[in-house]
This record gives sequence, structure tokens and C-alpha cells, in this order.
Amino acid sequence: MISAQQISKSYETPGETVEVLKGLSLELADGEAAAITGPSGCGKTTLLNLLGALDRPTSGSIDIGGQKIAELSDEEATHFRNHSLGFVFQQHYLLPQLSVLENVLVPRLAGDWQESESDTTDRARDLLEKVGLGHRLNHLPWQLSGGEKLRTAVARALVNQPKLVLADEPTGSLDPASTDTIADLLLELNQDQKTTLLVVTHNHALAHRIGRTLELRDGALWSAMAK
Ligand SMILES: Nc1ncnc2c1ncn2[C@@H]1O[C@H](COP(=O)(O)OP(=O)(O)OP(=O)(O)O)[C@@H](O)[C@H]1O
Ligand SMILES: [Mg+2]
Repeated sequence: MISAQQISKSYETPGETVEVLKGLSLELADGEAAAITGPSGCGKTTLLNLLGALDRPTSGSIDIGGQKIAELSDEEATHFRNHSLGFVFQQHYLLPQLSVLENVLVPRLAGDWQESESDTTDRARDLLEKVGLGHRLNHLPWQLSGGEKLRTAVARALVNQPKLVLADEPTGSLDPASTDTIADLLLELNQDQKTTLLVVTHNHALAHRIGRTLELRDGALWSAMAK
């Protein structure tokens, strides 16, 4: 599913070049799950942004499901994100004027969404039920707690039934019970739908449940624990 070879990523800032990823490689098979850990600032979000076609590497190649991600046009990248990918952002980016349910339905607004509105809405409600927000469908984001916003963002990432989920701290601000709820949902998708899962997390319990754990250190990934 994911084959990333020798990825480097540097950011140009006034006065200096910040080298974040330095020849990083990653292989993740179809249906596999892995956790990525590493200290703040080591490049975890940078890596997910590259894999999710939100940014391009300075050098190196990324193949996801047979597509060369670093070479997609903006339009192709948008199509890839809308149809093949579920992305849970570290900052969840809910649209403030839309309700919880409407936020989860945002991916549907992509021009070439095939499914009927009622089918997508049913699945959105079901996902919100699963993340424990069945009673908050009509709340606006400012009326939600931090953890509820995060859980809404997880539901939104899954509404297009992605083959690959990239999640950046999907349990970041959650208590242990909600962490388990999100972990259950992601692992259920991984086991039942064979969704490939790559999860950045500081949560040891979640990393342990996922099994394969990779540590991002010195700009590359290191195997931290085998299943
Ligand atoms: N657009 C940018 N321009 C310049 N430097 C950047 C940019 N984005 C990130 N960086 C730097 O790159 C490094 C990696 O950032 P990144 O967000 O990938 O870290 P992270 O591992 O996700 O950290 P955290 O656990 O705090 O979320 C940081 O030192 C950051 O300051
Ligand atoms: Mg980050």
C-alpha cells in the first residue's frame, strides 16, 4: 500500500534550511497497521503530510496503492485525498459554521462523489454513533469539547470508506475511555475492512494495540517493537 523510498524534506526559512526528514523509507503492506512515535518536532506531521499528498518531499519517491504521490498534479492530489484517503489532522480543522453531522459530510461535497446523499448520511450518523457523538449531531464546533471535536474529525476521515487512514494523534486530547473508543474503531476497520492504518501517537497503549511501532528519530524510521 505504501512504499516510500529515501524521502528527504527540508523547509526553507529566512536564514536557515530546516532539514526534517533525511532519507526516510517506509513499507506498509495492504491491510497492515503501524504506529509512529517520536518526540515533538521530529517530523511526524511532516511525514503524514507528504504521504497524504498535502506537501511534496524535497527528494525521494512515494508510491501509495500504485500512485506516485509526489508527482500528482494539484487536481490529482485532491482526487486521491477525497477518494482513497482518510486523514485525521492533529488540528482538526472543523468548519465553524457547520454542525457535527454536516462536518462529517464535507468530503461528500467533492464534485465526483458517487453515493446517494442518504446513504452517506446514514454512514455519517453511524460513525458519529460509534465515536460516541450520536447525541451531538446538531452541535456547532464551538459547542463541543476538545475531545468531541477530535472524535468528529475521526468520523469525517472515515466517511469516504478509505483504503488508507493516516491519523495524526487521533487520541491526543482524549481520556482513556474515549481513547479506547477511537482505538476500537480504527482497529475494527483494520481487521474487518482491511483498511491500512498509519497512526502517529504518543499513547503507548494505542501503539501497543496497533502492534508494529516505528520510531521517527534523526529524520528516519526505526523499528521500535515487532508484533
Ligand atoms: N512550514 C514549515 N516551515 C519551517 N519549519 C517547519 C515547517 N513545518 C514544520 N517545521 C519544522 O519541522 C520540524 C518538524 O515538524 P512536525 O510538525 O513534523 O513535527 P511533529 O513530529 O509532528 O511534532 P509534534 O509532536 O509536536 O506534533 C519542527 O522542528 C518544525 O519547527
Ligand atoms: Mg505533529
